[in-house]
Amino acid sequence: MAEIGRSIVKMNVDELIILLNKALADEWLAYYQYWIGAKVVKGPMKDAVIGELTLHATEELSHAELIATRIIQLGGVPVLSPIEWSKITNCGYDEPSDPYVEVILEQNIKGEQCAIRTYSKLLDITREADPVTYNIILTIISQEVEHEEDLSALKEDLDLMLERRS
Ligand SMILES: [Fe+2]
Ligand SMILES: [Fe+2]
Repeated sequence: MAEIGRSIVKMNVDELIILLNKALADEWLAYYQYWIGAKVVKGPMKDAVIGELTLHATEELSHAELIATRIIQLGGVPVLSPIEWSKITNCGYDEPSDPYVEVILEQNIKGEQCAIRTYSKLLDITREADPVTYNIILTIISQEVEHEEDLSALKEDLDLMLERRS
């Protein structure tokens, strides 16, 4: 364990590890929601949507990597079982049982908005207390903001196309 590294954190480290583990669960659930969404999605602009969902899946996985690494640096244990994910998640999981593009896009936009709110709170908590974690969360939240924007732009194009057709 990085003893000095841990000692410079000016907040309760165990509480911080709990919050990071909740975010880690969110990232794995978001990864799978995108990954499986890309497999089952159907409808207009399917190829563009699959490309975006697949890219987002990769990025959520890289967020999980960043968070798990930070938890270990802090002397914590990253959540060890997928069974725990649904118990500790902030943002939950939206099963893509309706594979229509618009529904999948809306589910994932909702997920990104929850992620942005969650990370925004984590930024507030860590800003003064733990600049290292703050920096990691800043990197992640910047990508979540991009994700929300990318999906919203796709949904806008889809809506425009459907409007013109009718
Ligand atoms: Fe993420
Ligand atoms: Fe995201």
